[in-house]
Amino acid sequence: MAESFHVLALGGDHIGPEVVAAGLEVLREASDRAGITVTIDEDLLGGASWDVHGTFCTDEVVEKARKSDAILVGAVGGPEWDDIRIDGPITETDGLTRLRIELDVYNALRPARAWAPLLRRTPFRPEIVEGADILVIRENSGGIYYGEPRGRDTESDGQERAFEISEYRTGEVERIARCAFEAARARHRRVVSLDKSNVMESGKLWRETVTRIGREEYPDVELTHLLMDHALFAVTMAPRDFDVVLADNLFGDLISDMVASVAGSLGMLPSATLPAAASSGDRIKGGLYEPTHGSAPDISGKGIANPMGTILSVAMMFDYSFGRSDIARAIEQAVETTLAKGVLTPDVGGTASTADVTATVMDALSLQQV
Ligand code: IPM
Ligand code: MG
Repeated sequence: MAESFHVLALGGDHIGPEVVAAGLEVLREASDRAGITVTIDEDLLGGASWDVHGTFCTDEVVEKARKSDAILVGAVGGPEWDDIRIDGPITETDGLTRLRIELDVYNALRPARAWAPLLRRTPFRPEIVEGADILVIRENSGGIYYGEPRGRDTESDGQERAFEISEYRTGEVERIARCAFEAARARHRRVVSLDKSNVMESGKLWRETVTRIGREEYPDVELTHLLMDHALFAVTMAPRDFDVVLADNLFGDLISDMVASVAGSLGMLPSATLPAAASSGDRIKGGLYEPTHGSAPDISGKGIANPMGTILSVAMMFDYSFGRSDIARAIEQAVETTLAKGVLTPDVGGTASTADVTATVMDALSLQQV
Protein backbone atom coordinates (compact mmCIF):
# COMPACT_ATOMS: atom_id res chain seq x y z
CA MET A 1 0.00 0.00 0.00
CA ALA A 2 1.21 3.49 -0.81
CA GLU A 3 2.38 5.51 2.15
CA SER A 4 0.09 8.32 3.03
CA PHE A 5 0.53 11.66 4.77
CA HIS A 6 -1.82 14.43 5.87
CA VAL A 7 -0.85 18.03 5.18
CA LEU A 8 -2.66 21.06 6.57
CA ALA A 9 -2.25 24.12 4.33
CA LEU A 10 -2.72 27.55 5.92
CA GLY A 11 -2.35 30.27 3.30
CA GLY A 12 -2.70 33.18 5.72
CA ASP A 13 -2.82 36.72 4.37
CA HIS A 14 -2.00 38.74 1.24
CA ILE A 15 0.55 36.84 -0.88
CA GLY A 16 0.39 33.88 1.56
CA PRO A 17 -2.47 32.05 -0.25
CA GLU A 18 -0.84 32.83 -3.65
CA VAL A 19 2.45 31.15 -2.78
CA VAL A 20 0.77 28.29 -0.92
CA ALA A 21 -1.30 27.51 -4.03
CA ALA A 22 1.99 27.24 -5.96
CA GLY A 23 3.54 25.08 -3.24
CA LEU A 24 0.54 22.74 -3.26
CA GLU A 25 0.79 22.25 -7.03
CA VAL A 26 4.38 21.13 -6.60
CA LEU A 27 3.47 19.03 -3.56
CA ARG A 28 0.81 17.15 -5.55
CA GLU A 29 3.09 16.55 -8.54
CA ALA A 30 6.06 15.51 -6.43
CA SER A 31 4.04 13.14 -4.25
CA ASP A 32 2.61 11.46 -7.35
CA ARG A 33 6.11 10.93 -8.62
CA ALA A 34 7.24 9.69 -5.21
CA GLY A 35 4.41 7.16 -5.12
CA ILE A 36 3.05 8.53 -1.85
CA THR A 37 -0.48 9.69 -1.11
CA VAL A 38 -0.80 13.15 0.36
CA THR A 39 -4.19 14.41 1.51
CA ILE A 40 -4.45 18.15 1.84
CA ASP A 41 -6.78 20.11 4.09
CA GLU A 42 -6.91 23.90 3.89
CA ASP A 43 -7.83 26.38 6.61
CA LEU A 44 -7.37 29.96 7.79
CA LEU A 45 -4.62 31.62 9.81
CA GLY A 46 -3.76 35.19 10.77
CA GLY A 47 -5.91 38.09 9.63
CA ALA A 48 -7.95 35.79 7.38
CA SER A 49 -8.93 33.84 10.48
CA TRP A 50 -9.58 37.02 12.49
CA ASP A 51 -12.03 38.30 9.89
CA VAL A 52 -14.09 35.12 10.03
CA HIS A 53 -13.64 33.85 13.60
CA GLY A 54 -12.41 36.83 15.64
CA THR A 55 -9.19 35.04 16.53
CA PHE A 56 -5.89 34.71 14.67
CA CYS A 57 -5.76 30.95 15.12
CA THR A 58 -8.75 28.85 16.11
CA ASP A 59 -8.62 25.85 18.47
CA GLU A 60 -9.83 23.79 15.53
CA VAL A 61 -6.79 24.74 13.45
CA VAL A 62 -4.54 23.81 16.38
CA GLU A 63 -6.27 20.42 16.63
CA LYS A 64 -5.96 19.81 12.89
CA ALA A 65 -2.30 20.82 12.98
CA ARG A 66 -1.63 18.38 15.84
CA LYS A 67 -3.07 15.55 13.79
CA SER A 68 -1.24 16.45 10.57
CA ASP A 69 2.04 15.02 9.41
CA ALA A 70 3.12 18.43 8.16
CA ILE A 71 1.74 21.97 7.96
CA LEU A 72 2.39 24.33 5.06
CA VAL A 73 2.04 28.01 5.98
CA GLY A 74 2.07 31.03 3.65
CA ALA A 75 2.48 34.29 5.53
CA VAL A 76 0.40 36.20 8.03
CA GLY A 77 -0.39 39.80 8.85
CA GLY A 78 -1.02 43.13 7.17
CA PRO A 79 -1.95 46.71 7.99
CA GLU A 80 -5.64 45.80 8.28
CA TRP A 81 -4.93 43.93 11.49
CA ASP A 82 -2.05 45.99 12.93
CA ASP A 83 -4.18 48.06 15.28
CA ILE A 84 -6.09 45.23 16.88
CA ARG A 85 -5.18 45.37 20.57
CA ILE A 86 -5.54 42.23 22.62
CA ASP A 87 -4.30 42.06 26.21
CA GLY A 88 -2.47 38.83 26.75
CA PRO A 89 0.43 36.76 25.61
CA ILE A 90 1.73 36.96 22.04
CA THR A 91 0.15 33.57 21.37
CA GLU A 92 -3.23 35.35 21.39
CA THR A 93 -2.15 38.28 19.25
CA ASP A 94 -0.36 36.28 16.56
CA GLY A 95 -1.73 33.07 15.03
CA LEU A 96 1.60 31.82 13.74
CA THR A 97 3.33 32.14 17.09
CA ARG A 98 0.39 30.35 18.74
CA LEU A 99 0.84 27.49 16.31
CA ARG A 100 4.58 27.36 16.95
CA ILE A 101 4.02 27.15 20.71
CA GLU A 102 1.15 24.66 20.55
CA LEU A 103 3.22 22.34 18.36
CA ASP A 104 6.43 23.00 20.34
CA VAL A 105 8.35 23.45 17.11
CA TYR A 106 11.52 24.84 18.63
CA ASN A 107 13.96 23.88 15.86
CA ALA A 108 13.72 26.34 12.97
CA LEU A 109 15.93 25.45 10.02
CA ARG A 110 16.39 28.40 7.70
CA PRO A 111 18.80 27.63 4.89
CA ALA A 112 20.12 30.26 2.50
CA ARG A 113 22.34 29.53 -0.44
CA ALA A 114 23.83 31.46 -3.30
CA TRP A 115 22.06 30.21 -6.43
CA ALA A 116 24.44 30.37 -9.38
CA PRO A 117 21.90 32.01 -11.75
CA LEU A 118 21.14 34.72 -9.17
CA LEU A 119 24.67 35.73 -8.15
CA ARG A 120 24.29 39.07 -9.88
CA ARG A 121 21.08 39.76 -8.01
CA THR A 122 22.92 39.76 -4.70
CA PRO A 123 24.62 42.84 -3.26
CA PHE A 124 27.91 40.88 -3.23
CA ARG A 125 30.68 40.55 -5.79
CA PRO A 126 30.29 37.06 -7.27
CA GLU A 127 33.64 35.87 -5.91
CA ILE A 128 32.56 36.75 -2.36
CA VAL A 129 29.21 34.96 -2.47
CA GLU A 130 29.60 32.14 -4.98
CA GLY A 131 29.08 28.81 -3.25
CA ALA A 132 27.82 30.35 0.01
CA ASP A 133 25.53 27.93 1.80
CA ILE A 134 24.39 28.84 5.30
CA LEU A 135 21.95 27.03 7.56
CA VAL A 136 20.51 29.15 10.33
CA ILE A 137 19.24 27.11 13.27
CA ARG A 138 16.89 29.43 15.16
CA GLU A 139 15.49 28.59 18.59
CA ASN A 140 11.83 29.18 17.95
CA SER A 141 9.78 28.64 21.07
CA GLY A 142 11.47 30.61 23.83
CA GLY A 143 13.45 33.73 24.58
CA ILE A 144 12.18 37.27 24.41
CA TYR A 145 9.19 36.33 22.25
CA TYR A 146 7.53 34.46 25.09
CA GLY A 147 9.22 35.54 28.34
CA GLU A 148 6.84 36.62 31.12
CA PRO A 149 5.98 39.18 32.30
CA ARG A 150 5.45 41.29 29.24
CA GLY A 151 3.15 44.20 28.69
CA ARG A 152 2.64 47.90 29.24
CA ASP A 153 1.93 50.05 32.25
CA THR A 154 1.89 53.69 33.20
CA GLU A 155 4.45 54.95 35.67
CA SER A 156 3.79 57.48 38.42
CA ASP A 157 5.11 60.36 36.30
CA GLY A 158 2.64 59.48 33.56
CA GLN A 159 5.12 57.88 31.18
CA GLU A 160 4.10 54.67 29.53
CA ARG A 161 6.44 51.73 29.93
CA ALA A 162 6.51 48.71 27.61
CA PHE A 163 8.57 45.63 28.43
CA GLU A 164 9.42 42.01 27.74
CA ILE A 165 11.87 39.55 29.19
CA SER A 166 14.61 37.60 27.47
CA GLU A 167 14.81 34.30 29.32
CA TYR A 168 16.24 30.86 28.62
CA ARG A 169 16.46 27.72 30.70
CA THR A 170 19.37 25.31 30.39
CA GLY A 171 17.20 22.60 28.82
CA GLU A 172 15.92 24.93 26.11
CA VAL A 173 19.46 25.87 25.10
CA GLU A 174 20.71 22.28 25.28
CA ARG A 175 18.07 20.94 22.93
CA ILE A 176 18.54 23.62 20.26
CA ALA A 177 22.34 23.34 20.55
CA ARG A 178 22.04 19.63 19.77
CA CYS A 179 19.93 20.47 16.70
CA ALA A 180 22.70 22.72 15.41
CA PHE A 181 25.48 20.23 16.10
CA GLU A 182 23.51 17.39 14.51
CA ALA A 183 22.85 19.52 11.42
CA ALA A 184 26.55 20.44 11.24
CA ARG A 185 27.54 16.76 11.27
CA ALA A 186 25.63 16.30 8.02
CA ARG A 187 27.33 19.37 6.53
CA HIS A 188 30.80 20.84 7.11
CA ARG A 189 31.00 20.30 10.89
CA ARG A 190 31.17 23.95 11.80
CA VAL A 191 28.83 25.81 14.14
CA VAL A 192 28.93 29.53 14.85
CA SER A 193 26.76 30.40 17.85
CA LEU A 194 25.46 33.96 18.27
CA ASP A 195 24.68 35.82 21.47
CA LYS A 196 25.16 39.09 23.33
CA SER A 197 26.86 37.47 26.30
CA ASN A 198 28.76 40.72 26.86
CA VAL A 199 25.56 42.40 28.04
CA MET A 200 22.81 39.84 28.53
CA GLU A 201 22.44 37.26 31.31
CA SER A 202 20.45 35.00 29.00
CA GLY A 203 23.34 35.34 26.53
CA LYS A 204 25.85 34.18 29.15
CA LEU A 205 23.79 31.08 29.91
CA TRP A 206 23.40 30.50 26.17
CA ARG A 207 27.17 30.61 25.57
CA GLU A 208 28.06 28.41 28.58
CA THR A 209 25.48 25.81 27.65
CA VAL A 210 26.36 25.64 23.95
CA THR A 211 30.05 25.35 24.90
CA ARG A 212 29.36 22.45 27.28
CA ILE A 213 27.17 20.51 24.83
CA GLY A 214 29.78 20.99 22.12
CA ARG A 215 32.65 19.85 24.34
CA GLU A 216 30.87 16.87 25.88
CA GLU A 217 28.79 15.56 22.99
CA TYR A 218 30.17 16.94 19.72
CA PRO A 219 33.95 17.26 19.98
CA ASP A 220 34.13 16.52 16.24
CA VAL A 221 32.28 19.77 15.39
CA GLU A 222 34.18 23.07 15.39
CA LEU A 223 32.37 25.62 17.56
CA THR A 224 32.91 29.38 17.40
CA HIS A 225 31.03 32.04 19.36
CA LEU A 226 30.35 35.46 17.89
CA LEU A 227 28.63 38.44 19.43
CA MET A 228 25.50 39.16 17.42
CA ASP A 229 26.57 42.63 16.27
CA HIS A 230 29.92 41.37 15.05
CA ALA A 231 28.26 38.38 13.35
CA LEU A 232 26.27 40.72 11.11
CA PHE A 233 29.52 42.30 9.98
CA ALA A 234 31.32 38.96 9.56
CA VAL A 235 28.55 37.35 7.50
CA THR A 236 28.45 40.38 5.24
CA MET A 237 32.21 40.35 4.69
CA ALA A 238 32.64 36.62 4.13
CA PRO A 239 29.38 34.67 3.77
CA ARG A 240 31.25 31.59 2.56
CA ASP A 241 32.98 31.19 5.93
CA PHE A 242 29.68 30.15 7.54
CA ASP A 243 28.17 26.68 7.71
CA VAL A 244 25.65 26.31 10.56
CA VAL A 245 24.68 29.44 12.48
CA LEU A 246 22.95 28.85 15.82
CA ALA A 247 20.93 31.65 17.39
CA ASP A 248 18.19 32.34 19.91
CA ASN A 249 14.68 33.29 18.85
CA LEU A 250 15.24 37.04 18.36
CA PHE A 251 18.78 36.91 16.95
CA GLY A 252 17.75 33.99 14.72
CA ASP A 253 14.90 36.10 13.37
CA LEU A 254 17.35 38.89 12.52
CA ILE A 255 20.15 36.80 11.03
CA SER A 256 17.77 34.70 8.92
CA ASP A 257 16.58 37.78 7.02
CA MET A 258 20.14 39.00 6.70
CA VAL A 259 21.46 35.79 5.13
CA ALA A 260 18.69 36.00 2.54
CA SER A 261 20.96 38.54 0.85
CA VAL A 262 23.18 35.65 -0.36
CA ALA A 263 20.14 34.11 -2.09
CA GLY A 264 19.30 37.35 -3.87
CA SER A 265 15.81 37.74 -2.41
CA LEU A 266 13.85 37.03 0.73
CA GLY A 267 11.44 35.35 -1.66
CA MET A 268 13.95 32.53 -2.21
CA LEU A 269 14.11 31.42 1.42
CA PRO A 270 12.33 28.33 2.74
CA SER A 271 12.09 27.11 6.31
CA ALA A 272 11.20 24.07 8.34
CA THR A 273 10.27 24.49 11.99
CA LEU A 274 10.31 21.16 13.75
CA PRO A 275 9.59 19.61 17.14
CA ALA A 276 12.88 17.65 17.11
CA ALA A 277 16.44 17.63 15.82
CA ALA A 278 16.32 16.72 12.15
CA SER A 279 18.32 14.86 9.55
CA SER A 280 17.57 14.57 5.90
CA GLY A 281 15.45 11.44 5.35
CA ASP A 282 13.59 11.73 8.70
CA ARG A 283 9.85 11.37 9.21
CA ILE A 284 9.18 13.95 11.84
CA LYS A 285 5.50 14.49 12.52
CA GLY A 286 4.03 17.95 13.08
CA GLY A 287 6.57 20.22 11.37
CA LEU A 288 5.68 23.68 10.08
CA TYR A 289 6.99 24.55 6.63
CA GLU A 290 6.88 28.15 5.53
CA PRO A 291 8.68 30.66 3.35
CA THR A 292 10.71 33.09 5.46
CA HIS A 293 9.25 36.16 3.74
CA GLY A 294 6.26 38.09 5.04
CA SER A 295 2.81 38.70 3.57
CA ALA A 296 3.98 41.57 1.29
CA PRO A 297 0.71 43.59 1.16
CA ASP A 298 2.28 45.89 -1.47
CA ILE A 299 2.26 43.17 -4.12
CA SER A 300 -0.69 41.12 -2.92
CA GLY A 301 -3.23 40.16 -5.59
CA LYS A 302 -0.89 41.02 -8.46
CA GLY A 303 0.17 37.43 -9.13
CA ILE A 304 3.87 38.29 -8.99
CA ALA A 305 4.92 36.90 -5.61
CA ASN A 306 8.00 34.67 -5.75
CA PRO A 307 6.80 31.12 -5.04
CA MET A 308 10.33 29.66 -4.68
CA GLY A 309 10.52 30.05 -0.88
CA THR A 310 7.33 28.01 -0.55
CA ILE A 311 8.33 25.46 -3.20
CA LEU A 312 11.66 24.96 -1.43
CA SER A 313 9.75 24.60 1.86
CA VAL A 314 7.82 21.76 0.21
CA ALA A 315 11.21 20.23 -0.67
CA MET A 316 12.13 20.44 3.03
CA MET A 317 8.86 18.67 3.86
CA PHE A 318 9.98 15.72 1.71
CA ASP A 319 13.35 15.82 3.48
CA TYR A 320 12.18 15.93 7.08
CA SER A 321 8.55 14.74 7.21
CA PHE A 322 8.20 12.24 4.38
CA GLY A 323 11.64 10.61 4.52
CA ARG A 324 12.26 11.32 0.84
CA SER A 325 15.45 13.27 0.34
CA ASP A 326 15.52 12.03 -3.27
CA ILE A 327 12.37 14.02 -4.02
CA ALA A 328 13.65 17.02 -2.05
CA ARG A 329 16.77 17.11 -4.23
CA ALA A 330 14.62 16.76 -7.37
CA ILE A 331 12.51 19.78 -6.39
CA GLU A 332 15.65 21.82 -5.67
CA GLN A 333 17.03 20.81 -9.05
CA ALA A 334 13.80 21.93 -10.74
CA VAL A 335 14.11 25.29 -8.94
CA GLU A 336 17.70 25.66 -10.16
CA THR A 337 16.67 24.80 -13.74
CA THR A 338 13.89 27.41 -13.62
CA LEU A 339 16.29 30.09 -12.35
CA ALA A 340 18.84 29.16 -15.01
CA LYS A 341 16.17 29.59 -17.69
CA GLY A 342 15.64 33.12 -16.42
CA VAL A 343 12.02 32.56 -15.46
CA LEU A 344 12.12 34.99 -12.55
CA THR A 345 9.62 37.07 -10.59
CA PRO A 346 10.31 40.83 -10.23
CA ASP A 347 11.99 40.53 -6.79
CA VAL A 348 14.84 38.63 -8.50
CA GLY A 349 14.93 40.89 -11.54
CA GLY A 350 12.50 39.21 -13.92
CA THR A 351 9.03 39.83 -15.26
CA ALA A 352 7.51 36.37 -14.81
CA SER A 353 4.37 35.77 -12.78
CA THR A 354 3.93 33.37 -9.87
CA ALA A 355 2.07 31.07 -12.27
CA ASP A 356 4.86 31.18 -14.92
CA VAL A 357 7.52 30.29 -12.37
CA THR A 358 5.41 27.49 -10.88
CA ALA A 359 4.64 26.03 -14.32
CA THR A 360 8.34 26.04 -15.21
CA VAL A 361 9.25 24.28 -11.96
CA MET A 362 6.51 21.69 -12.66
CA ASP A 363 7.86 21.10 -16.18
CA ALA A 364 11.41 20.72 -14.93
CA LEU A 365 10.21 18.29 -12.27
CA SER A 366 8.26 16.19 -14.74
CA LEU A 367 11.32 15.86 -16.99
CA GLN A 368 13.45 14.39 -14.21
CA GLN A 369 13.92 10.74 -13.43
CA VAL A 370 13.03 10.40 -9.78
C1 IPM B 1 9.57 35.09 11.01
C2 IPM B 1 8.68 36.28 11.21
C3 IPM B 1 7.88 36.10 12.50
C4 IPM B 1 8.84 36.08 13.65
C5 IPM B 1 6.76 37.13 12.72
C6 IPM B 1 5.81 37.19 11.54
C7 IPM B 1 6.01 36.87 14.01
O1 IPM B 1 9.42 37.45 11.20
O2 IPM B 1 9.06 33.96 10.98
O3 IPM B 1 10.77 35.29 10.82
O4 IPM B 1 9.26 37.14 14.14
O5 IPM B 1 9.18 34.99 14.09
MG1 MG C 1 11.45 37.17 10.60
